[in-house]
Amino acid sequence: MKSPSKHPTIQSDRALLFFPRSVDAEWDEGWSQPIGGEDSVLVSNVTQSSAAYWSSMVEEFDAIYTGEKRSRLSVFLDHWLRKDIYDRISETVQVIQAMGDNQTVLDVGTGTGRLCLPLGERGHRTVGIDFSRSMLEKAKDLTRKAGIAHLCDFVGGDIVQAIPNELKQYRHFDVITILGVLDYISDPLPLLRKLLLFRPRKIIASFPRRGTLRCYLRQLRYKVQGLDCPLYFYNPKQLSTYGDQLQCRHTNRKTMGQLHFCVFEF
Ligand SMILES: C[S@@+](CC[C@H](N)C(=O)[O-])C[C@H]1O[C@@H](n2cnc3c(N)ncnc32)[C@H](O)[C@@H]1O
Repeated sequence: MKSPSKHPTIQSDRALLFFPRSVDAEWDEGWSQPIGGEDSVLVSNVTQSSAAYWSSMVEEFDAIYTGEKRSRLSVFLDHWLRKDIYDRISETVQVIQAMGDNQTVLDVGTGTGRLCLPLGERGHRTVGIDFSRSMLEKAKDLTRKAGIAHLCDFVGGDIVQAIPNELKQYRHFDVITILGVLDYISDPLPLLRKLLLFRPRKIIASFPRRGTLRCYLRQLRYKVQGLDCPLYFYNPKQLSTYGDQLQCRHTNRKTMGQLHFCVFEF
């Protein structure tokens, strides 16, 4: 899938120089302390989870959607405690549907491609990027079985580190989605800025809420289970700061269970 560009060509990362950088000085480190995650990766000043961690989690993560090989109790708990994972997908689909037919979507941290499925069924075209090869293999398999492979493309790479050349070729996406990814990145702003290179009309992102009971329980669970993955939480003020720094027209945030569901409009 190579979509015709409606926007001027972006030649290189040099374009990044034009984006504002002042937030770094204002950054409140207290908002973003990692817990655990000895294997976490430091990219410039950004700490994040590792591809190896996610590759070890493919079946377990995808089972949240399917309930496969999970006990009845786990399925019950998923539908109760992780309802926001399903809700963020359906809300994202609704937002994109409202933007019109045949939208082009970049799904950052696509995982097993669970967002690509409902988007493809509605005729939208999605490019999923992920740094876990095993996640992408599963995503390709699922989209092929669903008969929407022609509407999906998958690119491997660490988008925090750099935008892969294969992805740059697309030049423009109508909308960029980042669901369940910023939980594991210490500073989302450099990534969000980079994504503006694609001139999206909207960036839809989920951020786990700071200060809730479940936030502390999740931190505890990661420690007890020894999960080798850093974890970050956000408050509404941070999200409006991101909106300002990205020079959004509107930043629409709503609370969705344990998440902030955020639509940055340009
Ligand atoms: C919790 S899963 C979410 C998957 C999917 N977005 C969903 O909501 O079902 C997080 C995914 O982000 C990917 N990821 C995390 N950091 C990444 C990075 N820097 N570059 C590319 N993929 C990344 C992981 O490999 C993993 O597949």
